[in-house]
Amino acid sequence: MSTIRNVGIVGAGQMGCGIAHVCAAAGYKVQLYDLSMERIEAGLATIHGNLARQVSSGKMSEEERKAALSRIKGSNDVNDLSQADLVIEAATEDETVKRKIYGQVCPVLKPDAILATNTSSLSITRLASATDRAERFMGIHFMNPVPVMKLVELVRGIATEEVTFTTAKEFVATLDKTVTVAEDFPAFIVNRILLPMINEAIYTLYEGVGTVDAIDTAMKLGANHPMGPLQLADFIGLDTCLSIMQVLYEGLADSKYRPCPLLVKYVEAGWLGRKSGRGFYDYRGEVPVPTR
Ligand SMILES: NC(=O)c1ccc[n+]([C@@H]2O[C@H](COP(=O)([O-])OP(=O)(O)OC[C@H]3O[C@@H](n4cnc5c(N)ncnc54)[C@H](O)[C@@H]3O)[C@@H](O)[C@H]2O)c1
Repeated sequence: MSTIRNVGIVGAGQMGCGIAHVCAAAGYKVQLYDLSMERIEAGLATIHGNLARQVSSGKMSEEERKAALSRIKGSNDVNDLSQADLVIEAATEDETVKRKIYGQVCPVLKPDAILATNTSSLSITRLASATDRAERFMGIHFMNPVPVMKLVELVRGIATEEVTFTTAKEFVATLDKTVTVAEDFPAFIVNRILLPMINEAIYTLYEGVGTVDAIDTAMKLGANHPMGPLQLADFIGLDTCLSIMQVLYEGLADSKYRPCPLLVKYVEAGWLGRKSGRGFYDYRGEVPVPTR
């Protein structure tokens, strides 16, 4: 165990729930915070389902599942984060949203609490400047789905103290994850490489080079990817994909990162992928059906 006992999580979406799941399973007390109890309850239901799946697949015992669930509390009151030793912000990938959250969360936190962000792309140094604790702020970037994916990227801001970094590294090790360290540049390592590939797949669709099915099949069987790039985009969330491309485009000022207009169109339509029921595939029926 690290010096962390209580973990606060901001955002009960895909990532917040996954992080809550692995923290609770590793023995931490978890306080999950989101805007409404409706979102918290939907998040807790997801965690329930995912923990149950781990029991059915023999990765966890029924007692461990019950114990993990009992460690997670949900609330829409930010004051409930006051006991946290570490707060991981996993809210929407939007700098304005995140800055506003830090303004609300920081006054509630213990003075020595560490605040981390799960951002996929935004500057850690710039986000740190919206907190009262730049030296105790950093990026702890989990991969989706959190209970399955082994990697966590750690990113220091310019002011992050060594003790903050070491504590985060020890904490991640207790979750049985492998750490990689990235410098604070747009989208860090994984998404700097992955998202332009996904964006290119969307251009390939946009230009009519192939259908959704052709593109995903090509990359699965031709490049040995476990999932096609369009399927993966739906899984990540098309709004998140677009935000990351915009951060790369603006942050690196290179036209090669220009978000595909078709990605923009899907996001404008509210077709955000799996989480909204439709993206490059329609998930509302028994099996996903390509939308183009
Ligand atoms: N989706 C991925 O594959 C992935 C992978 C790694 C990291 N991330 C990062 O994790 C973060 C969350 O992504 P996600 O996919 O879970 O998004 P999501 O849309 O599933 O969830 C975001 C949650 O944040 C909540 N939220 C928004 N504003 C809030 C506020 N002011 N206070 C409290 N909660 C608020 C929303 O209600 C929602 O429940 C983003 O920064 C994203 O870039 C995503």
